[in-house]
Amino acid sequence: MSRYHLDPLTPKFGASIFGIDLSLPVDESDATSLIEDLLKYRVLVVRDQTLSHEDHLRVSRFFGKPETHVQDQYTVPGFRQIVTISNIHRNGVPIGMYDGDNEQEWHTDLSWKAQMSAVSLLYSVIAPEVGGETRFADTIAAYDDLPAGLRARIDGLETVHSMLHLFERQAADNPAKVPLTEAQRAQVPDVVHPLVRLHPETGRRSLLLGDMIIRGIVGVDETESAQLLDQLHTHATASRYVYSHRWAVGDLVIWDNRATMHTASPCDHTRHQRLLYRTTVM
Ligand code: SIN
Repeated sequence: MSRYHLDPLTPKFGASIFGIDLSLPVDESDATSLIEDLLKYRVLVVRDQTLSHEDHLRVSRFFGKPETHVQDQYTVPGFRQIVTISNIHRNGVPIGMYDGDNEQEWHTDLSWKAQMSAVSLLYSVIAPEVGGETRFADTIAAYDDLPAGLRARIDGLETVHSMLHLFERQAADNPAKVPLTEAQRAQVPDVVHPLVRLHPETGRRSLLLGDMIIRGIVGVDETESAQLLDQLHTHATASRYVYSHRWAVGDLVIWDNRATMHTASPCDHTRHQRLLYRTTVM
């Protein structure tokens, strides 16, 4: 029996959690409840936390094994599994990922890896007054609502996820984007994933999409592939499937990458700063 309080954000997707202090040791029943609530609600917003990097990693380990990131220039010194997400620039150089004023890219964390990630935990330290929300889409509900004919057409299809493709597209929009080094490029070969994935814990099907990281659908010509992916993205990011999180300092948002995708929202870095730390577990 958990001792925290949970308020659903919508009937089926997202929940706020109050009455738990994750900087303190968490007993097994609360840890188990957090895992179960995450499987049920897919996005958990835990308010009013004050977490050290050690706390962030300890809580992350309830959900799996924290992974390192190929863009190691943004990992926190001494904490290789924590990535800085920020629009703050120092001496003209971004201190974190998602540094662009208009950095929007629907994705599932680390989908450029052969092994897919399970859960991410994003903790807010500086919250902008305007912009910089993170939007989450419920990719299970989006799949469930597809017409049966379209579901039959896409079940079994595979897509190519490519970090190199993503960087080419982002550089076109944001000339200040710091490119991958040769050593980083060598670590991110293209990978193939199913377009419809099966959740390993719940057995539910969902759409595995990404509006910039996917090169195309395997074995489908470029035009048809682009049209189909576009149609699925438009459907999956309709407002009825999306929860938009407006950040407050001390929020820890935990999401199930196997059942959601997300994107940052525009934030003018010359007026509003944003600093968060993220872990992703496998
Ligand atoms: C992320 O993709 O993990 C970061 C999202 C954000 O910056 O809002």
